[in-house]
Amino acid sequence: MKISKSEYTRRRKNLMAMMEANSIALIPAAGECTRSRDTEYTFRQDSDFLYLTGFEEPDGVLVLIPGRRAGQVVLFCRDRDPEMELWNGYRAGPEGAVSDFGMDDAFPMDDIDDILPGLLEGKQHIYYSMGHNDAFDRRVMGWVNQIRRQIRTGAKPPGDFTDLAFLLHEQRLFKSAQELRVMRRAGAISAEAHCRAMRECREGRFEYHLEGAILHEFAENGARAAAYNSIVGAGPNACVLHYTENRDKLRSGDLVLIDAGCEYQGYAADITRTFPVSGRFSEAQRALYDLVLKAQLAAIAKVRPGNTWNQPHDATVRVITRGLIELGLLRGKEKDLIKSGAYRDFYMHRAGHWLGMDVHDVGDYRVDGKWRQLEPGMVLTIEPGIYVAPGNTKVAKKWRGIGVRIEDDVAVTPEGCEVLTAGVPKAIEDIEQLMAAG
Ligand code: GLY
Ligand code: MN
Ligand code: MN
Repeated sequence: MKISKSEYTRRRKNLMAMMEANSIALIPAAGECTRSRDTEYTFRQDSDFLYLTGFEEPDGVLVLIPGRRAGQVVLFCRDRDPEMELWNGYRAGPEGAVSDFGMDDAFPMDDIDDILPGLLEGKQHIYYSMGHNDAFDRRVMGWVNQIRRQIRTGAKPPGDFTDLAFLLHEQRLFKSAQELRVMRRAGAISAEAHCRAMRECREGRFEYHLEGAILHEFAENGARAAAYNSIVGAGPNACVLHYTENRDKLRSGDLVLIDAGCEYQGYAADITRTFPVSGRFSEAQRALYDLVLKAQLAAIAKVRPGNTWNQPHDATVRVITRGLIELGLLRGKEKDLIKSGAYRDFYMHRAGHWLGMDVHDVGDYRVDGKWRQLEPGMVLTIEPGIYVAPGNTKVAKKWRGIGVRIEDDVAVTPEGCEVLTAGVPKAIEDIEQLMAAG
């Protein structure tokens, strides 16, 4: 299951169709990143570059020049090099970029200083996302200044810079049928990994054992990377929103919160489940868990075309605030506690975010100052939570140190929505049953 070559061509065409006349776009690839001394982190391509090329090598630049007769799509990439390829692996080279990746033309990266100023010269607009890559920003300015220095010989420097992000990210926000297929698979693999963690959970094991089980399940299904660092937090660690140490012991009587998702063919899944180490929820855990689940289901019910981005979030705030009053964790009137933000002592993040090639994916949340409407093809997470700080002496002891989050990935469809991560249970009886069978 891969994004097809023709879809990459379509994406570039769509983007070029939205660019102004007499313009050019520059999209740099990611570089390799040192982990220690002379070893690198596993390479991850820049999402914008990958979206437009499917090209997974570091150190390249995609150049789009709508209307150029000699070729509208030009890639600069690493040249073939038998010695380097023997050590570090295959390179497509400029020939492969044309024959296998559908580029109109391609050149070695080493020639970019000689060729690119000529492509920029005379263009009115440069589409480029400035401020994300210092080294490349400087190179772009160097090429522009090179043209400026030749002004007296008749050279015409580019008129202005336009942020590429707006056009490109608006396009990335709407997932195609192929993207949805890939994201469904990312969701299914990640759901299976969470099921496995529930089955393999035992008192006395460590958080990293569950992390290992999850990563193993990802890799066995062809998803070599996690989309983000996995969170496995048992007991009060579940109340640390970005806990990634994952090194404590699993104790009977505690809940464990796992927030983990794979990256599959460049697309992220993002799932959170919370379950008891022992396989049975206690009374207090059950009460908070059921409240978070009720909030999550209320929010998912709000995901449909025409509703705004904020409606699912507002639904979680209402359900959680009312529930916390009923359980005695908050005192006062629902309306006042929402207005004052008192619920934020327990629920301090938003209900979700866009999801796609990046886990916190691109796309605006507001349009013309208003929350934007949901439309088919958008994919978002729904992830309410309740976290009672271990040191919160304002609430009864039985609640303290309990952290619960439930997170699913949801695609907006013409009729409503589709939950892409339904393969892992979230109802208490289903979780208890799965864990008892494990
Ligand atoms: N795992 C990151 C998030 O849920 O936003
Ligand atoms: Mn998330
Ligand atoms: Mn998450």
